[in-house]
Amino acid sequence: VIERKVDSVLNLMTLEEKIGQMNQYSGNFATTGEVADTKSGEYLKKGMIGSTFNVFGADHLRMLQEQNLKHSRLKIPMLFAADVIHGLETTFPIPLAEACSWDLELMEKSARIAAEEATASGVAWNFAPMIDIGRDPRWGRVMEGAGEDVYLGTQVARARVRGFQGIEDYTDLSKPNTMMACAKHFVGYGAAQAGRDYHSVDMSDRMLHETYLPPFKAAVEEGVASFMTAFNTLNGVPCTGNKYLFKEILRDRWNFGGMVVTDYTAIMEMVAHAFAKDLKHAADLAIDAGIDMDMISEAFVTHLKELVEEGDVSEEQIDVAVSRILEMKFLLGLFDDPFRYFDAERQQKVVMNPEHLKIAREAAQRSIVLLKNEGNVLPLTKNESKRVALIGPFVKERESLNGEWAIKGDRNKSVTLLEGLEAKYDGSRVKFTYAQGTTLPLIDRSTQKVSVREVPDRSGFGEAVNVARNSDVILVAMGEDYHWSGEAASRTDITLPGNQRELLKELKKTGKPIVLVLFNGRPLDLSWEEENVDAIVEAWYPGMMSGHAVSDVLSGDYNPSAKLVMTFPRNVGQIPVFYNMKNTGRPFDAEHPADYRSSYIDSPNSPLYPFGYGLSYTTFKYANAKISSDKLQVGGSLTASVEVTNTGDVSGEEVVQLYLRDRVGSVVRPVKELKGFKKIHLKAGETKMVEFSIDEEMLKMYNIDMEWVAEPGEFDLWIATSSADEANHLEFSLVE
Ligand code: IFM
Repeated sequence: VIERKVDSVLNLMTLEEKIGQMNQYSGNFATTGEVADTKSGEYLKKGMIGSTFNVFGADHLRMLQEQNLKHSRLKIPMLFAADVIHGLETTFPIPLAEACSWDLELMEKSARIAAEEATASGVAWNFAPMIDIGRDPRWGRVMEGAGEDVYLGTQVARARVRGFQGIEDYTDLSKPNTMMACAKHFVGYGAAQAGRDYHSVDMSDRMLHETYLPPFKAAVEEGVASFMTAFNTLNGVPCTGNKYLFKEILRDRWNFGGMVVTDYTAIMEMVAHAFAKDLKHAADLAIDAGIDMDMISEAFVTHLKELVEEGDVSEEQIDVAVSRILEMKFLLGLFDDPFRYFDAERQQKVVMNPEHLKIAREAAQRSIVLLKNEGNVLPLTKNESKRVALIGPFVKERESLNGEWAIKGDRNKSVTLLEGLEAKYDGSRVKFTYAQGTTLPLIDRSTQKVSVREVPDRSGFGEAVNVARNSDVILVAMGEDYHWSGEAASRTDITLPGNQRELLKELKKTGKPIVLVLFNGRPLDLSWEEENVDAIVEAWYPGMMSGHAVSDVLSGDYNPSAKLVMTFPRNVGQIPVFYNMKNTGRPFDAEHPADYRSSYIDSPNSPLYPFGYGLSYTTFKYANAKISSDKLQVGGSLTASVEVTNTGDVSGEEVVQLYLRDRVGSVVRPVKELKGFKKIHLKAGETKMVEFSIDEEMLKMYNIDMEWVAEPGEFDLWIATSSADEANHLEFSLVE
């Protein structure tokens, strides 16, 4: 039926009208009166804009839709999109943080809430989830993804697509609270050379298939409605003009039926890449690669007609792209009611409702990773009498707490750490004294020049040290200003910015225990901090409920349960460092060190904190690891199990992880690969049996001929508390 509807509109459209549908702008339109006299305004007057993004406000959008309908001869509705990355007005932790919860249900729920709020506010298309695998903490956009691992990244991609779309498949977008999700950025963006944003990407086809494609394939299987191109080149070809990616892989192999939009000016950028000689050539390359919609470049709207007239592009190619766009508009119900997503009443009801705030707080609690807790300095319980020195630029910081890409989250509404602590400890015997100590260094984002970075001075150190001296424990809140991560925020030095570490060194001299709470968007080099402070709490950017959630953790009202989804290196020189590397022919054995092995002379190979690592206020013991058989018959299954006991005094949650290693393959396999996990809750003293079913599917890999198969042979299996834990080791063979 939809196909017939699409055809009936398409048949009436002029070539220019069709091309207009392939044209997308960001929201620089006048809100009142006549359309502004800008380039986009001119196209709006000709009814030649298919979509706009990051325009907010129901009234504003309504006006824009009215303008569009007034000028569109066939009354084709405009599609409104936005980057709703971690919540709309109710902001959730940054996606990297939320992934550390290993709680897929929670991630689906927070995505659903984001979609409920966005669809009531006029947005029917979300430029999320970002499902790029991120293995380089220098790259600022790791904050938007789910970390370094393929298995976990794939599960998170599925959960977020389900959450945003709220349906089984994009062909069922008809309800007013469903929206199109967008799998981005296709592909390899996370592998930018040297962690520098937008930089070139060169990788083997094997690495592409093993590591970077699986989350995208999973998104297609989850029924995602759209894809966005990546800015980077992949093996010499810009993704936006890459037929191999969009035609061969996405359409032919994966049968993706949704639509493809470029990233911001990505068609135009093919000229700078030295792939297209000019914008017209770039337009030709992009449509040839299978791109449907041009974000900002104006390449299609300026050159496609000419390319058709000259015979370089066929009208059929354009019809294919436009059909996909119209199909989405029909599926969303926009042809029936172009105003259906501007629902003031629903907006009033859903946006930032108490239930959303409650889940945002829960999500933030569950995203906070306890990295160190020497001598159980934490929790700071309410019933103990304590003088706490509160020091650091993040004690009162509000603006940064949402992190980047909280495009509609009101930064004035976030709860600061101080506010959270005051609410938590009000009337208790814990007393706080505050000194800021230092400020967060800022960057001039327009020039990115080191010389214009404002380097804080040491004038606040003295007061901070005095406050620290008169305390029983020093609580230090530090991190990165939120502009230091996100798009175009790559770093070469991933230590705490400015003079924050210098301040810590001064505080250390007081001899008082130090608890360091961190707010940041990427793994940092914390090697000095790990050695010198007593406790480290990685809070990331927890969203609007920041202060409350961090206080819940510091007080022990919530027992931390999150685990890292990205390795924390000891230094930038180790990067890239991730847990599932290959062994080399000369692996270094730290217990039996020897020369001429694969190692550094000035740093261990091991990271500071491994993937899957995170502490709790209780302890868990793993015992009696068992496997139902040491042979797995092709087509059959095995059960591996372990008993996990909460050996501490408080209840807690543990993420039990399953890792496998294929000992010999037709191609070299990583030292281990995550293949499953379970998050369990245990009361103090309680034991639970955790079981994993192992089947052939889990053992599959791309063999030497790039076939997806499981190769018979021997396998190692670990049920572990982190990727570095090898205590519970089992073995089995796959037999035919
Ligand atoms: O969706 C984003 C993308 O991730 C980065 N460039 C801009 C787009 C639109 O805001």
